[in-house]
Amino acid sequence: MTVRVRVPAKINLALCVGALADDGFHPLTTVFEAVDLWDELTLRPADDVRLTITGEGADAVPTGPANLAHRAFTRMASEFALPTPGAVLEVHKAIPVAGGMAGGSADAAATLLAVDAWAGLGLGRDRLGRIAAELGSDVPFALLGGLARGTGRGDRLEPITRAVSHTWVLALAEGGLSTPAVYGRFDELHPAGCSLHLSPGFDAALADPRSLAPLLRNDLQAASLALRPALADVLAAGERHGALAGLVSGSGPTCVFLCADTDAAARVAAGLGGHPEVAGVRCVTGPVPGAHVVAA
Ligand code: C5P
Repeated sequence: MTVRVRVPAKINLALCVGALADDGFHPLTTVFEAVDLWDELTLRPADDVRLTITGEGADAVPTGPANLAHRAFTRMASEFALPTPGAVLEVHKAIPVAGGMAGGSADAAATLLAVDAWAGLGLGRDRLGRIAAELGSDVPFALLGGLARGTGRGDRLEPITRAVSHTWVLALAEGGLSTPAVYGRFDELHPAGCSLHLSPGFDAALADPRSLAPLLRNDLQAASLALRPALADVLAAGERHGALAGLVSGSGPTCVFLCADTDAAARVAAGLGGHPEVAGVRCVTGPVPGAHVVAA
């Protein structure tokens, strides 16, 4: 039996980062949005665990036990009786690797869901979500999708059910940024951390891109720009071509641009296409559902 799962990338509309805590993590208040850029994972039964990666940035992704999808499978195999001891996991990537859009976390979430469906475990979102949080801070949101407020390490989620639709242009970068390195630079820049309070009008502004644009916030952005100064020019270029606002996605280096509509997005995408620091451009919309089985 083969199971195929699609899983979306995420954008942080707000990423408020507190001071480094004793557990080595930073407390967060964040608003996640899942966008229609999908990794696809196919699971086939096998005697051992094997991972193959194709698509966007595949060469840069480890395929051994360090890969989060690999760890997700072995975590499930350690607790539950599975039909075979291993599986072949084929991941086709569209989410940029080490791009600040939770691509590795997405593949882990897809693996949890695929194993659950394949083995008929019926774990449900809550139980899968708890296992997801053990694997990484962004894994629970990749399962949930949509729009959600995250606290704790970003793993405690509260869905936001407001009906909204956002149009984004993504500017992909050549090469990734290490999340721990970005948080490390954040600690140097903001030893006392930043405020964990979202601006009061944030939820209401979600319904209108022009109101949302000035409220978009990423406390990691200064750290990402310190490590990759050329991103400042990418952000300026996107806004010059008509984006309502641009910001670094998560720990970067992908830059995301909120646009008024699809026509504006097409202009921004065309304007960024030839930029020397931009390796690729995507127009996406959000929010979209989280990880889901497309074939079993
Ligand atoms: O949870 P995840 O494995 O994605 O985190 C990767 C790294 O990012 C952590 O080891 C930590 O250095 C940093 N991080 C953090 N605070 C968070 C989330 C991640 O410092 N809330």
